[in-house]
Amino acid sequence: MKKTLLMIILCGMLLFGLSGCGETSTDTAGKVQVGVTYYNQTDTFLGELIDCFKNSLEEHNTGELEVTAMVREAAGSEKTQNEQVRELIDAGCNVLCVNLVDRADPSEIIDMARESDIPLIFFNREPVEEDMLQWEQTYYVGAPARQSGQMQGELAADVIRDGGVDRNGDGRIQYVILEGEADHQDAIIRTESVVNTLQEKGVELEKLDYQIANWNRAQAQNRMRQMIGQFHDEIELVLSNNDDMAMGAVDAYNALNYTEENRPVFFGVDGTAVGLQAVKDGDLAGTVYNDKEAQANVMAQLSVALVTGEGLDAIAFENERYIYVPYLKVDQENVDTFIERSEARPE
Ligand code: GAL
Repeated sequence: MKKTLLMIILCGMLLFGLSGCGETSTDTAGKVQVGVTYYNQTDTFLGELIDCFKNSLEEHNTGELEVTAMVREAAGSEKTQNEQVRELIDAGCNVLCVNLVDRADPSEIIDMARESDIPLIFFNREPVEEDMLQWEQTYYVGAPARQSGQMQGELAADVIRDGGVDRNGDGRIQYVILEGEADHQDAIIRTESVVNTLQEKGVELEKLDYQIANWNRAQAQNRMRQMIGQFHDEIELVLSNNDDMAMGAVDAYNALNYTEENRPVFFGVDGTAVGLQAVKDGDLAGTVYNDKEAQANVMAQLSVALVTGEGLDAIAFENERYIYVPYLKVDQENVDTFIERSEARPE
């Protein structure tokens, strides 16, 4: 009786042990488990990009391959994000996609990924080159920031050339800038390149002020209200680093009941659902499309290729490990195509 019991226990242990081991090896074969963490769920563009990414991953789910994603948002805390990366690794993710809270401090995340030998794709918030060089299994997917500033400048130059912007007729355009986060590559470079482009196009500019509003609509409304308080109807042009802040600026003018004749023209970047609608309605004079569908597609393609080892050749890298998806100009003429394109995405 005792012997039989012992045998049963021993067999049980053996079986349990075997299936435990078997499970890990067969389980991960043919499985792409993507661990995603992004800096803040209050960010409109990031929310839309993550939705696109989930859809793009879904498209890789075929009979042979099972693709799953675990998505976390870090609520603006680097510490939370580091813990999430640990959790995603422990949960068995075999590729990581990280939208850094602090783009200047990715070392802990790189160390964790390297120790577990899990490829690491940074997206949208670009680490500095030095950090990208820490480990050869790090990649970056984003968009060329300079181009977005250039395109915003070209759109604005066209509208200025058409007339009506220089309301006081002094031959110069009095402008203000709404900037994203202070140390974000897209904020710094967009601001610089939009101004350079306008100057290159021969537009005489007079900068009245700039304010940082961290990509956020409510903050931008606040800052714009302060600037209106100071400059009244002198402001002829509002250049915003993104659509949400451009909308915040429009909100400020609406709240003060400014008429069309006394308002500046507004330009954004992103082409979010709200931004595109605002271009259609004429609230924004133009925006620059931050191509979330294409960024999501290439990120999904890269995630799958890094895990399966197949398909890397088909990806067009710059500097071996960077992918930059081009921006596109949006104005009233072509905005409908972008609205249709965004709506065509499956929910
Ligand atoms: C930018 C985008 C902003 C914001 C930011 C977050 O590319 O234009 O709206 O989402 O990324 O990192």
